[in-house]
Amino acid sequence: MTAHKELTIGLFGFGVVGEGLYKVLEKTPSLKARIKKVCIKNPEKKRQAPASLFTTEKNELLNDSSINVIVEVIDDADAAFQIVSTALKNGKNVVSASKKMIAEHLQELLRLQQQTGQSFLYESAACASIPVIRNLEEYYDNDLLHSIKAIVNGSTNFILTKMFEEGLDFRQALILAQQLGFAESNPKLDVEGFDAVNKWTFLLTHAYGIVIRPDEVLFNGIQNINAGDATVAREKNQQIKLVAQAKKLQNGKVAAFVMPQFINHDDHLAFVKNEYNGVVIESGFADKQFFYGKGAGSLPTASAVLSDIAALRYDYHYEYKKLYHHRPHELSNDLYLRTYVSFDDWSYVPRDDFEWIEEWHAGEERKYFVGVIAFEKLLKNTWWKENNTSLILAGDPIIESIELRNVKKKSLELAGII
Ligand code: HSE
Repeated sequence: MTAHKELTIGLFGFGVVGEGLYKVLEKTPSLKARIKKVCIKNPEKKRQAPASLFTTEKNELLNDSSINVIVEVIDDADAAFQIVSTALKNGKNVVSASKKMIAEHLQELLRLQQQTGQSFLYESAACASIPVIRNLEEYYDNDLLHSIKAIVNGSTNFILTKMFEEGLDFRQALILAQQLGFAESNPKLDVEGFDAVNKWTFLLTHAYGIVIRPDEVLFNGIQNINAGDATVAREKNQQIKLVAQAKKLQNGKVAAFVMPQFINHDDHLAFVKNEYNGVVIESGFADKQFFYGKGAGSLPTASAVLSDIAALRYDYHYEYKKLYHHRPHELSNDLYLRTYVSFDDWSYVPRDDFEWIEEWHAGEERKYFVGVIAFEKLLKNTWWKENNTSLILAGDPIIESIELRNVKKKSLELAGII
């Protein structure tokens, strides 16, 4: 048996995750990993660790040849990228939790890993405690992954749970999410879906070999969901969740997006409450599998960082098998979505963009309908994020072009036109 490598860690950041990692490492001496130095921004802040551990000089860590692992859990994506790229070039393995940085620099990070041969691990950056990246990378190392449907942001799930099940208003729920250390320091990143779409981009890389920038993915957050939408959900015995979804289409390409969605009460994701995340995978032969765990918070996130550190003892690195060893999948916009739209005034809604309307309801103050619209039309326009309009995916939301053509043909046949 080969002896495990001893790990000497330089840690960047001592916030929610950094301090969590410090505590977790203290409780796992068997790991033979010790933090030599912690680089922080603000030396004045009181911290629960010996003062001698801290520095504000990043090169004390990056140029220390006895440090073989850099763990980066800071908030600033640009600074994080500088740290990570320098560390890799300086011959150090890196563990990171910075989802925004990873999503925005994925292409460069892939290149840096190839150039330096160093390992760059970031299990904690998506779904915190759920080992989703390593599963997609290692276990689903085949072409059988039909779809993934996931809740990947803890704060929005927490807010939706508190609002719709415990009667808190949005602001109260958000403040609580901030106090508990779930929300980003700029909570707009959670609420408006940026954090979820950031995570979704690199999960798509590990699932399907797709390398895409977050601003190329259709996404929204929960900012437009209102009490009326929640009432409709309750009437239909459904819940509203912020869902990241990817599905292999019949054309062999992949549809992917992050959108609020009505979820049936018996859906696995309906079971995911508060800051928990959940991932439902459908694959050939295995059928459905469900992964569930805490998606935000100090110790759950630190547990995934710890697992990455442990993996470095045996030189684990991501092979990006779907990207380099298989034929990577392409994204497809050739699909339609079933959407529920609630709004104050018809003039805000381009009705002609919809292929058909399945259901409509006109209340005194607010109206809604359920209709089918081309994916591209949502990608290219923003009316559905404006004027207090709320768009939520409904039913089985993905309709493939081929299915749509069949439905249209059938209705023309029924009408005696063809
Ligand atoms: N703000 C993030 C969330 C933290 O709520 O999911 C974990 O990535």
